[in-house]
Amino acid sequence: MQRLIVTLDGPAGSGKSTVARMLADRLGVEFLDTGAMYRGLTAKALDRGINPAEEGYAVVGLARNCDIRFDFGHSPPRLFIGSQDMTERLRDQHVTAHVSDVAALAGVRQVLVDAQRKVGAEHPRLVTEGRDQGSVVFPNADVKFYLDARAAVRAQRRADQIRASGRHADLEAIRDAIVARDHKDSTRADGPLICPEDAQRIDTSEMTLDEVVDLLERRVREAV
Ligand code: C5P
Repeated sequence: MQRLIVTLDGPAGSGKSTVARMLADRLGVEFLDTGAMYRGLTAKALDRGINPAEEGYAVVGLARNCDIRFDFGHSPPRLFIGSQDMTERLRDQHVTAHVSDVAALAGVRQVLVDAQRKVGAEHPRLVTEGRDQGSVVFPNADVKFYLDARAAVRAQRRADQIRASGRHADLEAIRDAIVARDHKDSTRADGPLICPEDAQRIDTSEMTLDEVVDLLERRVREAV
């Protein structure tokens, strides 16, 4: 079986998760949501009463001592820490508010980058999404994409998602939170959000979800 690693990086709310999942389905390969790993660890740290912004050493200790893994028997895959299924809590607002502090810790990134490479070794046909997949984790990926969209568009998409689930969404607050998270993710020393030189950059501001997936699928099929 020929190896096929496709990386999708980009800022918060650029639609990467949905696009990556649909693209993986169309290509018949596995899907890796690396943000879910950072989110799961954040949820676990908060459960333990750890404040990630102030007690980084405790978060790194937790990352080194717990087993963070996906169960790929489900579609989409479910995230476990030890025997605890964390999947339903990954998008909680307080997890989102703290996740960039957790992701800025070099010790945490070491553990999770290793775990992600292990997934790549076990599933060599994979669409993986995050911030550093093409730059750090899989520099030799077969096809690399960087998905972007204007901040206002990304905020509107997030708000639509939240409203569709029957909850109240404050568009301005969502936009501010997205911009703040992008700033933290882009300015950290270790594995910052960047567009790798050899990635295809795609601005999805004016595109529908299906148009984005169609384009990426075409580009992958042309490349391999
Ligand atoms: O993509 P998602 O919004 O789920 O990512 C949550 C957070 O996890 C990001 O804001 C970023 O801080 C962190 N992350 C990261 N590296 C990745 C994936 C996510 O630092 N590869």
